[in-house]
Amino acid sequence: MELTIISHADVEEMLNFPECVTVLEEAFLKARTGQCLTPPRTPLVLGPQKNFGAMAAYVEGMNTVGLKVNTVFSTNSGTRFHIHQGAILVFETENGCLTGIVEAAAVTNIRTAAASALATKILTDNKPMSLAIIGAGTQGAQHIEAMLAVRPITSLLIWDIAQERAEAMAERARLKTGLKAQAVATAAEAAEASDLICVCTPAVNPVLSGEWVKPGTHINSVGFSGPGGRELDDGLLNKSKLYVDWRETILRDCGDIILPLKSGVISEKDILGDFGDLTAASGPGRAPEDITLFKATGVAIEDLACAEFLLKKARRENRGAKTLFGGFND
Ligand SMILES: NC(=O)c1ccc[n+]([C@@H]2O[C@H](COP(=O)([O-])OP(=O)(O)OC[C@H]3O[C@@H](n4cnc5c(N)ncnc54)[C@H](O)[C@@H]3O)[C@@H](O)[C@H]2O)c1
Repeated sequence: MELTIISHADVEEMLNFPECVTVLEEAFLKARTGQCLTPPRTPLVLGPQKNFGAMAAYVEGMNTVGLKVNTVFSTNSGTRFHIHQGAILVFETENGCLTGIVEAAAVTNIRTAAASALATKILTDNKPMSLAIIGAGTQGAQHIEAMLAVRPITSLLIWDIAQERAEAMAERARLKTGLKAQAVATAAEAAEASDLICVCTPAVNPVLSGEWVKPGTHINSVGFSGPGGRELDDGLLNKSKLYVDWRETILRDCGDIILPLKSGVISEKDILGDFGDLTAASGPGRAPEDITLFKATGVAIEDLACAEFLLKKARRENRGAKTLFGGFND
C-alpha cells in the first residue's frame, strides 16, 4: 500500500483557515450522526511539563481511523521547538493499512485556532469586533489569522506575561495584516476593551477574570489542557454561557471545567453544548448582553479530519513523500 508522508511545511501550505473550519464542521456533523469513537487520551507524564500522549479517533463515514501520537513539552516554550511534536497516523478501514503520516504540530496549530474560529462563527453575530489575544505564542498568532478568517476585526490588543513577546507579536500583526495592533501592560486592559478574547497560555492559574469582561463578549480559551490547572477564573465561568469542543474529553481532561465543577461553581448542566450540538443546530442565538465562552482541549476527531483532508489533497496535487509500506503475503 502506498504511504504518503506530509511535512510541517506541506501542512502549512495546504491547510488554510477557511478550509479547515469547513473540514471541522463537517467532521463534527458526521461524529454526531454516525458512530464515533474517541477513547481517553493515554498521557504518560515524563516529568514536570513533559508529557507524551496518544489520541485515537474513528468517525463513521470518514473511511479512515487514526491516531495522533505526540509529546507536549511546555519546556519548549520560547525555544525554536514547538510545544507539540509528533505525527498523525492514518489507516484505511478496508484492509487496515497505514496510508498516511502527517506532521502533527502544524495540524494541531491550525486546527486548534480553526476550532475557535468555528465556535466564533456559530456563537457570535457577524459584525466588526475588537480582538484581544492573551498569550502571544504559537496559538496566539494562529488565533489572529483564524479570527480574521471569520469576523471583521477592527483592532487588536495583545497581552503576554513576557511583555516583549506581546510587543513583537503586535509589530508582526501590524506588518502582516495592517491591523491597528498594540501590546498592553495587563490582561485586564486587553479584556476590558475587547468584544472577542482568545486565551492561549500554558498558565495553570487564571490569567483572565470575569471582572474584566464586558457584556456581549465572546471568549475562546484553548490554553493549558490538563485537569489540574486553569487559565479562567470562577467569576468568568459564573457569568458566561458555556460551550465546549467535545463534552466527553472536556469532562475528562480540562481543569478549566473540572475544577469549578468540583468546587460547585458550575454544574454539568451549565455546559450548554459541544461541537456535536453546535454544528447540528442552526446556532443557539445570543442576546446582545450575553457573554459566551468556548473552552477547548482539542479532539482527536479534528486531527483525523484534517489529516484525511490533507492526504486526499496531497494525492490530487501529487505532493508529499511516498513509499510502499505495510505487510503483504506476496
Ligand atoms: N486546546 C488545544 O487543542 C490546544 C492545542 C495546542 C496548544 N494548546 C495549549 O495552548 C497553550 C499555548 O500553546 P502555544 O503553542 O501557543 O505555546 P507557546 O509557548 O508558543 O506560547 C505560550 C505563550 O504564553 C505565554 N505565557 C506563559 N505563561 C503565561 C502566563 N501565566 N500568563 C500569560 N502568558 C503566559 C508565553 O510567554 C508564550 O508567549 C499550551 O498550554 C498548549 O498545550 C492547546
